[in-house]
Amino acid sequence: MNRQEMIQHFQKIFSTQQTPRVFCAPGRVNLIGEHTDYNGGHVFPCALSFGTWAAGVKRDDTKVRLYSLNFEKTGMIETDLSRVVYDKKQDWANYPLGVLSVLLKREYPVSCGMDLLFWGNVPLGAGLSSSASIELAAAVMLNGLFDLRIPNFELSKIGQEAENKFVGMNSGIMDQFASAMGKKGRAILLDCNTLNYKLEPLNLKGVSIVICNTNKPHNLIESKYNERRAQSEHALKELQSKLPVHALGELSEEEFEQNKQLITDPVERKRAKHAVYENRRALKAAKKLEEGDLEAFGKLMNDSHVSLRDDYEVTGKELDAMAEAAWKQPGVLGARMTGGGFGGCVVALVKDENVEDFKQNVAAQYEAATGYKPDFYIASAEDGAREITE
Ligand code: GLA
Repeated sequence: MNRQEMIQHFQKIFSTQQTPRVFCAPGRVNLIGEHTDYNGGHVFPCALSFGTWAAGVKRDDTKVRLYSLNFEKTGMIETDLSRVVYDKKQDWANYPLGVLSVLLKREYPVSCGMDLLFWGNVPLGAGLSSSASIELAAAVMLNGLFDLRIPNFELSKIGQEAENKFVGMNSGIMDQFASAMGKKGRAILLDCNTLNYKLEPLNLKGVSIVICNTNKPHNLIESKYNERRAQSEHALKELQSKLPVHALGELSEEEFEQNKQLITDPVERKRAKHAVYENRRALKAAKKLEEGDLEAFGKLMNDSHVSLRDDYEVTGKELDAMAEAAWKQPGVLGARMTGGGFGGCVVALVKDENVEDFKQNVAAQYEAATGYKPDFYIASAEDGAREITE
């Protein structure tokens, strides 16, 4: 989708001659550091070329109208500035409305109604942050239309608040942060405890980031996600009976091993172990990337998958089949599930010359094991949420 096409769609759908402003916010792929963000650890995502495009104008009254080219059957969603509340019937529009509601609650001068159009190409339910991408598209658009001058860093927190408080998914900051703060050619090493971050050049030297979609939607993710989060928080509480820490991400592997018996429930002990070790793996991986040691980076990815499978238990049959098929192929440096889990995507580092064979072989083996046909995308790291002016 380009700017001109968005404008044409907008004029047709809202029957107007006005020229809307056009914005865009990407999805993300997380390279390593999974289920660490809400545990005060590190994540290492990059923003993708997949994203959500948004076009909008202000109105003279207080009507708020939203339309998505992806959900044409749902039609126009209409409400009023005085009635921006969650409603299941509003379906996809709860994401942008959530952002609007946070801005209103924070008393930003959003003083009139608006017509807003959305279109996105982030595969839905695939763990590539389609929801953060529409939240940030809405956030960057409202920021622009109402001249709110909120920095992207802050927009990511507004997006997360919309997700947590309006939509009701208790997610961490990673997805919204990556969508807001992504940079072309860079991955973001984010410390979710302090929100300090570093943009690391993705020097992949003849290696591609291949995203393998299991096409198994992550249906149960909300309840399981919130359950994992509660288990980690309870494990932390028990550790805090002796250790002066605020988050699992503050612990080294050694400190964890010395104190893990404080966690009474063996399942919660496994959850905490994953959070501690995965945080350290993300830090090590970023260092390996800096040193140009992609082999070592790939091994850390494999370890990450095993830990997510055995200790955090968020993979499932399809993700495991995909990762196992990927691990067997020539030219593969590493592969792991990415995102929340329970379906969605595997991310793999594959030597350029092996990518075509990789796709064919993995597709055949994965389909034989699960019955699902996979999709593959080559990822490139792109810029975060922004206005499109040409
Ligand atoms: C989802 C959440 C993120 C993060 C990942 C797991 O994508 O939205 O905040 O917790 O799962 O790493």
